[in-house]
Amino acid sequence: MATVAATALWSLLLLAAPIDAQVYMGADRSADAFTWVQPLNTTILGQYGHSEPVYPSPSSTGAGGWAEAFEKAQAFVAELTLTEKSDMVTGVPGPCIGNIYPIPRLNFSGICLQDGPVSLRIVDYVSVFPSGVTVAASWDKTVMYERNLAMGREFRAKGAHVALAPSAGPMGRCVYSGRNWEGFSPDPYLSGVAMELGIRGLQDAGVQAVAKHFVANEQEIMRNPVYYTNGTLQYEAISANVDDRTLHELYMWPFANAVHEGVSSVMCSYQRANGSYSCQNSKLLNGLLKDELGFQGYVVSDWYALHAGVDAVNAGMDMDMPGTTRYNRSYVPELARMTSLFGGNITTMVSNGSVAEARLNDMVTRIMTPYFHLRQDEDYPTVDPSSVFLNTFSNQSSWLRPWNITQDTSIRDARDNHAEIIRRHAAESTVLLKNINNALPLKAPRYIGIFGNDAGEIQNGPINRFGSDESLEYGTYAVGGGSGSGRLTYLVTPQEALKARAQQDGTVVESWLNNTLVATSDATTLWSYRGPDVCLVFLKSWAREVIDRESLELDWDGNAVVESVASSCNNTIVITHSAGVNVLPFADHPNVTAILLAHYPGQESGNSITDVLYGDVNPSGRLPYTIAYNESDYNAPIVTNIQTTGVEDWQSWFDERLEIDYRYFDANNISVQYEFGYGLSYTSFDMSDLIVESTQQSGAIQQFPAATPVTPGGNPELWQTLYTASIAVSNTGLSRGSTVPQLYISFPDSAPSGTPPRQLRGFEKVELAPGERRTVTFEIMRRDISYWDVFSQEWAVPSGDFIFHVGFSSRDLVASATVTPIAA
Ligand SMILES: *[C@@H]1O[C@H](CO)[C@@H](O)[C@H](O)[C@H]1NC(C)=O
Ligand SMILES: *[C@@H]1O[C@H](CO)[C@@H](O)[C@H](O)[C@H]1NC(C)=O
Ligand SMILES: *[C@@H]1O[C@H](CO)[C@@H](O)[C@H](O)[C@H]1NC(C)=O
Ligand SMILES: *[C@@H]1O[C@H](CO)[C@@H](O)[C@H](O)[C@H]1NC(C)=O
Ligand SMILES: *[C@@H]1O[C@H](CO)[C@@H](O)[C@H](O)[C@H]1NC(C)=O
Ligand SMILES: *[C@@H]1O[C@H](CO)[C@@H](O)[C@H](O)[C@H]1NC(C)=O
Ligand SMILES: *[C@@H]1O[C@H](CO)[C@@H](O)[C@H](O)[C@H]1NC(C)=O
Ligand SMILES: *[C@@H]1O[C@H](CO)[C@@H](O)[C@H](O)[C@H]1NC(C)=O
Ligand SMILES: *[C@@H]1O[C@H](CO)[C@@H](O)[C@H](O)[C@H]1NC(C)=O
Ligand SMILES: *[C@@H]1O[C@H](CO)[C@@H](O)[C@H](O)[C@H]1NC(C)=O
Ligand SMILES: *[C@@H]1O[C@H](CO)[C@@H](O)[C@H](O)[C@H]1NC(C)=O
Ligand SMILES: *[C@@H]1O[C@H](CO)[C@@H](O)[C@H](O)[C@H]1NC(C)=O
Repeated sequence: MATVAATALWSLLLLAAPIDAQVYMGADRSADAFTWVQPLNTTILGQYGHSEPVYPSPSSTGAGGWAEAFEKAQAFVAELTLTEKSDMVTGVPGPCIGNIYPIPRLNFSGICLQDGPVSLRIVDYVSVFPSGVTVAASWDKTVMYERNLAMGREFRAKGAHVALAPSAGPMGRCVYSGRNWEGFSPDPYLSGVAMELGIRGLQDAGVQAVAKHFVANEQEIMRNPVYYTNGTLQYEAISANVDDRTLHELYMWPFANAVHEGVSSVMCSYQRANGSYSCQNSKLLNGLLKDELGFQGYVVSDWYALHAGVDAVNAGMDMDMPGTTRYNRSYVPELARMTSLFGGNITTMVSNGSVAEARLNDMVTRIMTPYFHLRQDEDYPTVDPSSVFLNTFSNQSSWLRPWNITQDTSIRDARDNHAEIIRRHAAESTVLLKNINNALPLKAPRYIGIFGNDAGEIQNGPINRFGSDESLEYGTYAVGGGSGSGRLTYLVTPQEALKARAQQDGTVVESWLNNTLVATSDATTLWSYRGPDVCLVFLKSWAREVIDRESLELDWDGNAVVESVASSCNNTIVITHSAGVNVLPFADHPNVTAILLAHYPGQESGNSITDVLYGDVNPSGRLPYTIAYNESDYNAPIVTNIQTTGVEDWQSWFDERLEIDYRYFDANNISVQYEFGYGLSYTSFDMSDLIVESTQQSGAIQQFPAATPVTPGGNPELWQTLYTASIAVSNTGLSRGSTVPQLYISFPDSAPSGTPPRQLRGFEKVELAPGERRTVTFEIMRRDISYWDVFSQEWAVPSGDFIFHVGFSSRDLVASATVTPIAA
């Protein structure tokens, strides 16, 4: 980055642009130190090296309850000139991260698109919510919905029509991927539910949701092409080479939930799929998204992810963002003003016949249908003028056209009472992995020692300094970095919240926040007269957009900090704030009495963890991924290096197919430290009496769904409940708490090889008073018991016996039932 010639505008872009918008001359290839090398295999390249052409682009129809809005959109399009239509599909610099220019003649005040999945990023006086991985760890459908409803209200209050959220790509194929924390889980079912409910929350608040990044954007390194300084292409972006079945059953799965929920927009991703850029891949956009899934909204490019004009339009791309190109990565002021591959070129494409005007009409109709459906034409708040001056991404000096924004810097505080929700959600999402010797909850200890550089205040300004490569030494991590970050208007640290709470009991609190000092000292020499009754060790691990993580160890020598404290303190409690998977070599240490994973909890971090430590909230989070014993136990590595020089040579082979995370560990009988779905409580639970019932009144279940017209989400039959499974759950302990019964399905032997041994197909969080017993019910849809049949290009139910397992985690299955939809 530092090598790029900086001009006034460019330096602004570098310092403050969303990471999606940044230019990295080779910096995407940062982690050369990795040992994995995936040599170019021309045999496989021959198989994968192309994506099948699918044309023409399907037109929207208003299906899925959008008919009224669709008519309004068509009427709107009928009023537009060709130039106005071109404007409608092309971003311009303006007050927001993405902007569609207003057309006052039609009372259309433009469209404002803003980042991102945890917060309206660029502004102040908004909340920073728990991150996607944190919410996934809640396994709580109410949390998934409520969080985004609250967030959506903040976007609306600030005048943003479109929230660039939520994310299911990356889904988490590689544990190291820098953006996994923005999304949810490597399990497609859990991610799918979180996507669906997150979208419902945003759209119930009147804000358009964007399901991103479509699809298989599973690593950051080389996600974009690299150019020489003279403008010649050095490398194409990495190509994610995924077979058809894997794409359907893993990476596309949560996007199907998103489309089924009526998501307004889908963002195509940076990288290539089977050799073709995602934003011009007709198989992905025309074929899978618009035809097979019946998507009715618009495809928006990731920022600068568009690499073609005519080809992209005909492949199903609908809106270019931010609407300027970045061909010549060394020459920036011109770039910021360079017009788009869309824009004026769209007019030419239609005039010269390379794009049908009907396709352009469809693009604009797709953009305006969700706008009318969410009634954004009625009383929508204006873009908060105060946010305009915080938008250094498109600073006013870069605006190509005037914008009617008053120079009003008064504060528009969008936060309402959301701090309460954030505090509660993050506490409930905390995962308790270990709790021996009654270590937790705390009971008015006499002396608390706080250790680790994650406990205190961030030093030297906000954490979300976009693009900087920090892991900052001092300060707690409440959110990760990049365009998915948030601007913390305030942050409650663990240290300050604990001190305030401990005061109620008159507890002595002393802190040692210097990891180096703690790791290298005999801990008994640190404390003054006798050891603390409880030693709370706060550790962290950083991740952000553009780079991938290089290690799964806790940052700043976290393991050594734990070893040092635990060798002298027999009640050592480890708390982590992390982007996701960490290996925990101290997990079985006898003096480590408790382990809590808080992930990235958002602005109320300290209050949330204090509520859990003191038992005001009984933790009920469950792991949304697997914690292996060793870093080397994980498969599906990131491609970090190549040995060749061809422009095409960055290839990522998804050879593990369906075997990621627990599917891989289960298929290969690998023992793990803590399995997918695992988590403890301060109380205990029991489960029994599994009952599975068919919902079919009569008639056998057919192998394939009936050929019903596609509605958003695909063939509607796939979403039909075929079975219900219910189980009685009771609280056998002494305190109120929640548990998460989980349903996993084993497919019959007739399913094609490579089918994972067990796959999550249901979960419900249930809160119970001591002694209380309740029945939890799961609904099993046709999709849940189908595999993607590559020959028929349909979802198929295999014949023979399925086993439905219900339990407390993926490896703690307490009841099972055999189900035979189609006799063998
Ligand atoms: C390339 O892939 C083919 C097909 O999977 C395999 O048989 C061959 O061994 C691979 N070659 C190398 C050099 O890895
Ligand atoms: C990618 O190639 C594989 C192997 O030929 C194929 O199964 C799959 O459908 C292709 N996917 C896309 C999106 O082109
Ligand atoms: C624009 O709004 C004004 C005032 O509400 C209304 O009179 C006019 O008909 C509207 N124009 C269009 C094209 O909708
Ligand atoms: C651009 O630079 C590269 C690397 O130095 C060189 O191989 C290539 O020929 C140059 N292209 C042009 C058009 O000068
Ligand atoms: C890219 O910008 C540099 C610096 O201004 C200029 O010298 C070079 O000619 C440009 N290259 C292209 C391909 O436009
Ligand atoms: C067409 O696209 C090219 C490449 O981005 C750009 O340089 C040119 O200005 C565009 N033309 C119009 C009329 O927008
Ligand atoms: C039509 O115009 C587009 C946009 O300028 C251009 O990319 C394309 O090559 C043109 N096609 C023909 C057939 O002239
Ligand atoms: C916007 O750009 C102008 C001119 O380059 C500069 O003076 C101003 O400080 C910038 N504003 C922000 C918020 O960066
Ligand atoms: C600018 O906005 C103000 C208030 O939002 C409105 O009264 C005025 O008519 C607008 N001016 C133009 C030129 O659109
Ligand atoms: C942290 O401790 C180490 C080892 O004692 C010391 O070298 C370093 O200066 C300390 N850092 C700060 C910020 O005090
Ligand atoms: C556990 O802590 C005690 C001090 O309370 C210490 O004597 C002992 O060596 C520790 N055990 C281990 C395995 O470090
Ligand atoms: C921990 O150590 C303290 C004093 O060093 C002792 O009183 C206590 O019993 C020990 N607890 C356990 C669980 O070993």
